[in-house]
Order: sequence, then structure tokens, then C-alpha cells
Amino acid sequence: MISFEGIDGAGKSTHIESLCAAFKAQGRAVTQTREPGGTPLAEKLRAMVLNDAMDALTEALLIFAARRDHLLQVIEPALARGDVVLCDRFTDATFAYQGSGRGFDLAVLTQLEQWVQQVAALDGGRLRQPDLTLWFALAPEVAAERLAGVRVPDRFESQPVEFFRRVSEGYAQRAAASPQRFVRIDAALDRHKVWQQITSAFVRRGWLAIMVAANGGPP
Ligand code: TYD
Repeated sequence: MISFEGIDGAGKSTHIESLCAAFKAQGRAVTQTREPGGTPLAEKLRAMVLNDAMDALTEALLIFAARRDHLLQVIEPALARGDVVLCDRFTDATFAYQGSGRGFDLAVLTQLEQWVQQVAALDGGRLRQPDLTLWFALAPEVAAERLAGVRVPDRFESQPVEFFRRVSEGYAQRAAASPQRFVRIDAALDRHKVWQQITSAFVRRGWLAIMVAANGGPP
């Protein structure tokens, strides 16, 4: 399971597509999905979270409710089949956006994480977490420039640069707490250099062959 994280405008989408193609070229089955969302129920919750005003606890509960459904209906079955799961955002986003961005209680988020990410396939109280998280790190000012005028902003995209500075700090804290899981990608570089950083992380782990990585890049 691989998750993709970063502030809005960091440019993860095209690389998720390219990585999906690279794994498929190697003969792997891939489940590509996103959070909040990924199931009919979780997509309804996503629309509420992104568009409707609500207090911070309600927001956190809806996001974790969506995550529970997504884990049980999509992620766990896919992992059980042996698929590579590519998930656009996961719990690190909750700690970064709701925790650091909104200033919501990290202890409550940690409790919710414990409840939601305990799944039958893992015993001994271990939590389902991504095996690898690609963190697209980019200065909030640059991300804001990239996003400007692209589309109508949702409740998060319309936040000021200061909010995204706190979100970035939240990601940095999560990365420092799980250095084995996180790979920090310098998302300020051009698209090819970003892709090279991504593929070298996978080739290093033996998860992608060098030929597939080289051919599977973005246009
Ligand atoms: P995003 O993943 O960037 O999708 P899109 O490609 O449509 O922009 O949007 C999801 C938004 O939801 C993003 O602003 C971050 C926010 N979010 C949270 O606040 N908490 C979470 O736990 C997750 C998963 C996302």
C-alpha cells in the first residue's frame, strides 16, 4: 500500500497515474483509489467534508468514517488479492490538515486512528498503515501560485497560505515520526526530476525494475 501526500497544488496526481502504469507494465494488478472517498458511501462523505461547513470534531469523524468504509470495502480486499494499492492521501492528511492545519486535538485523532485502522488481517493490535508514503513537499506560496485560477476552490483549497504552512509542518512531524515509511519528494523541481525521485525510491526497494521505471515516466 502506497499513499501520496502533500499540500494542495503539490502535483501528485500525474505521478500517481504514471506509477499505476509502471506497476501494470510490470504485470502487477493495481487498485488506484483516494481519500476521503473510494467507496460510494465514502464519496458521499467526501462531498460533505469538502463543501459543507462543520465543526472540527464532525469533520474528523466523517473523515475517519469514510476511511473505515474504504478500508473494509476496498483497501483490505485489494491487499488480500495481492494488488498494489495506490491511495491518494490517507491518515497523514488527517494529522496534517485537521491536526496541524485546523489545530484539532492530536490525541483524539490518534484514538480514532487506533479504532479505525485495526483490521482483521493484522493481529496484535497492529494498525493498517501504508507501506510507503510519498510526501510531495512544496513551499505553500509556490503551491498557491500553481492552484490559482485552476478551478473553484473547495473548503481546504480556499485556505490562506498560513494554513498550508501549518499543514506542511504537520507532514514534517509525521515524516519525522516514521522515517522508514516516508519518502520526501522535492516537488519544486520539474516534472521529470520529480518522477526520477519517485522511481528511484521504488527501484531502491526492489519494487520496480529499472527499465520499467525509466519507460513509465510522465510525458
Ligand atoms: P485532494 O486529495 O487534493 O483531491 P483533488 O485532487 O480533488 O484536489 O483533495 C482532498 C482534500 O481533502 C484536500 O484539500 C485535503 C483534504 N483532506 C483532509 O483535510 N483530511 C484528510 O484526512 C484527507 C484524506 C483529505
